[in-house]
Amino acid sequence: MTTTRTVVRGGLVITAADEMHADVLIEGGRIAALAAHDSDAAAGWSADTVIDATNKYVIPGGVDGHTHMEMPFGGTTASDTFETGTRAAAWGGTTTIVDFAIQSVGGSLRSGLDSWHAKADAQCAIDYGFHMIVSDVTDNTLKEMDVLVEEGVTSFKMFMAYPGVFYSDDGKILRAMQRAAANGGLTMMHAENGIAIDVLVQQALAAGRTDPRYHGEVRHALLEAEATHRAIQLARVAGAPLYIVHVSAQQAVAELTAARDLGLNVFGETCPQYLFLSTDNLAEPGFEGAKYVCSTPLRPREHQAALWQGLRTNDLQVVSTDHCPFCFAGQKDMGVGDFSKIPNGMPGVENRMDLLHQGVVDGQISRRRWIEIACATPARMFGLYPRKGTIAPGADADVVIYDPHAEQVMSAETHHMNVDYSAYEGRRTTGRVETVLSRGVPVIDNRTYVGRAGHGQYTPRGICQYLI
Ligand code: URP
Ligand code: ZN
Ligand code: ZN
Repeated sequence: MTTTRTVVRGGLVITAADEMHADVLIEGGRIAALAAHDSDAAAGWSADTVIDATNKYVIPGGVDGHTHMEMPFGGTTASDTFETGTRAAAWGGTTTIVDFAIQSVGGSLRSGLDSWHAKADAQCAIDYGFHMIVSDVTDNTLKEMDVLVEEGVTSFKMFMAYPGVFYSDDGKILRAMQRAAANGGLTMMHAENGIAIDVLVQQALAAGRTDPRYHGEVRHALLEAEATHRAIQLARVAGAPLYIVHVSAQQAVAELTAARDLGLNVFGETCPQYLFLSTDNLAEPGFEGAKYVCSTPLRPREHQAALWQGLRTNDLQVVSTDHCPFCFAGQKDMGVGDFSKIPNGMPGVENRMDLLHQGVVDGQISRRRWIEIACATPARMFGLYPRKGTIAPGADADVVIYDPHAEQVMSAETHHMNVDYSAYEGRRTTGRVETVLSRGVPVIDNRTYVGRAGHGQYTPRGICQYLI
């Protein structure tokens, strides 16, 4: 078999560590070398394909560590399949996702993981791994956690929210954390006090407060902060690392900051919706606010500054999407007259790299920090680095040619996610994906999809690479 060689010429290579005016040689699906433009080394490279990246950025493919393709939730199923969702991810410059397999109550981790493998197998346009949602902590579940870590499913999401669905009480959480402390697993926590929230939900509905905006009010910021604090203390007691998912409240960021100042292995993720949207969207007229119902909920605008600051100071380390799309017609409208019946989740897997680049354009973060929070850190956090998340010799050639000057208007008319609305409809952003390679193979070529379902490979993961 002949080895394909591709050279990306003339671009600005940006990684979490460096910005380099360099050409990139790709051989056999991996980065083979980088060399300065016009250097003798680069001039000597022969190639089957040359990609001209003049005036463009050459960046690692995005790593989205939090997606829910075809997830059954809230009486319906997330509308992107692994096929449509990973295609849309590629359009947005993401080349790896880590999705959540689900243990059903009474079921084993193994059968949950098997069914997620069956959904994803031969469907994905880009590479993928799995976290495991633990909804039923039993002696057997705890033993299974050890096996999964060995197999490359090295992180376990638990819920302090959603009583009767995914919820675990503090005792169950503590037991799972103790096991993770011993086997190297990373506990990912949905930190909201679901028991208290359910009381507020019932009170709101009884008082006739049924519109989508009440979803934001009953899921109080203090109940996110309280659960974040409690999760951190449980992790300390267990001696386990902890990763808080979808942080939206500034009070929760403060809990993370305090924990990190103590030197704890505590990490935080936020999502573009919390950086760019707010309770103003939840309060849009009619039933429009349902488009923005997710948990943790959108917060008042003031919280955005604290989240951006947390990203700058590394009190928050990762931006993932929590992509969990439900169509407005036929899914979100299940909650007309009762906000608690609106399926929780928002689309965004296609928008993350562009929205974070807009953060660069707006002066919120640097270019290298953009790549760090969207590519390198999620790869390290979830045991995929340096294969994913960087452009360096030996890494998988997951490479995006990004035009930092192109303007676009986000819209459901033009996006590729299988959902009938855009949470960012009409928003103008600067910067756009032009070409995407996955392991050296073109998936998007000059804004044409040339990928295929089944190119994406299941990628077992190592343990978190940040533990101190
Ligand atoms: O609203 C959300 N976030 N839906 C997906 C499930 C979860 O809690 O991440
Ligand atoms: Zn969650
Ligand atoms: Zn989620």
